[in-house]
Amino acid sequence: MIDPHRIERDTFVARAEVHAELPSTNDRALRLAGTSTDLPHLIAALRQTSGRGRGANRWWSAEGALTFSLILDAAPVPAERLPLIGLLTGGTVCEVVAAAVPEADVRLKWPNDVYVAGRKAGGILVEVPHESPNRLVVGIGLNVNVSLHGAPDDVRRRATALCDVAGTPLPAGELLIGILQQLQTDLDRLETDFASVLAEWRRRCLLTGRCATLHDGTRTITGTCLGYDDDGSLLLQTVAGPRRFRSGVVEAWE
Ligand code: BTN
Repeated sequence: MIDPHRIERDTFVARAEVHAELPSTNDRALRLAGTSTDLPHLIAALRQTSGRGRGANRWWSAEGALTFSLILDAAPVPAERLPLIGLLTGGTVCEVVAAAVPEADVRLKWPNDVYVAGRKAGGILVEVPHESPNRLVVGIGLNVNVSLHGAPDDVRRRATALCDVAGTPLPAGELLIGILQQLQTDLDRLETDFASVLAEWRRRCLLTGRCATLHDGTRTITGTCLGYDDDGSLLLQTVAGPRRFRSGVVEAWE
């Protein structure tokens, strides 16, 4: 049960709207980003019909998933750490999921995916509204109590839902509150205690020690993942030496 009044009372969200159905919470957040006066502004949907993932990807979801977006003020985030907001949010979701399903192996896959028991359970889509570059839209999709039976084959092959890992349904509304509270703390730590944020990313990294293939927009690079550099960049040991990455996609690893 997602209660907008409770969200406004118990979290840093100043305005919460919960819709029965939306095409995409990120699309609505992008539309409202320029005019919303109460930030952070949360837009949640019990069902999304055209959810978007990174790049040209779609985000499949069904009833029982958590799908929501936050409009945030970008000003308090140090400029050099803005590219890390997706990773930070992924780390936030990992910590909350790990507390809710203590027996599960919960991993952060660079740059912003949440893996549980070896499969993707959540993803983050961070966008900067064209007309309001001083704001951020952070979209989060998390398979909580979702049946993957109706999902396309490729999603069924690589995704999981928390209820399947835990063997029982989980309270989605509580998870949402937990994520929002933890995100407020983590946004603050990004500036005040980056070392401990990094320590969590390093501990939860899915790729460390594995051979990963990364696309950074122009090149495809393969190397052994060494975890995170002190500035939060992903480190790959390649044949040409260590390389650092601030953006890109890891499409394969073994
Ligand atoms: C990814 O894995 O590529 C990112 C997926 C992000 C999905 C969420 S669901 C809520 C928000 N609205 C969207 O249309 N996408 C994000």
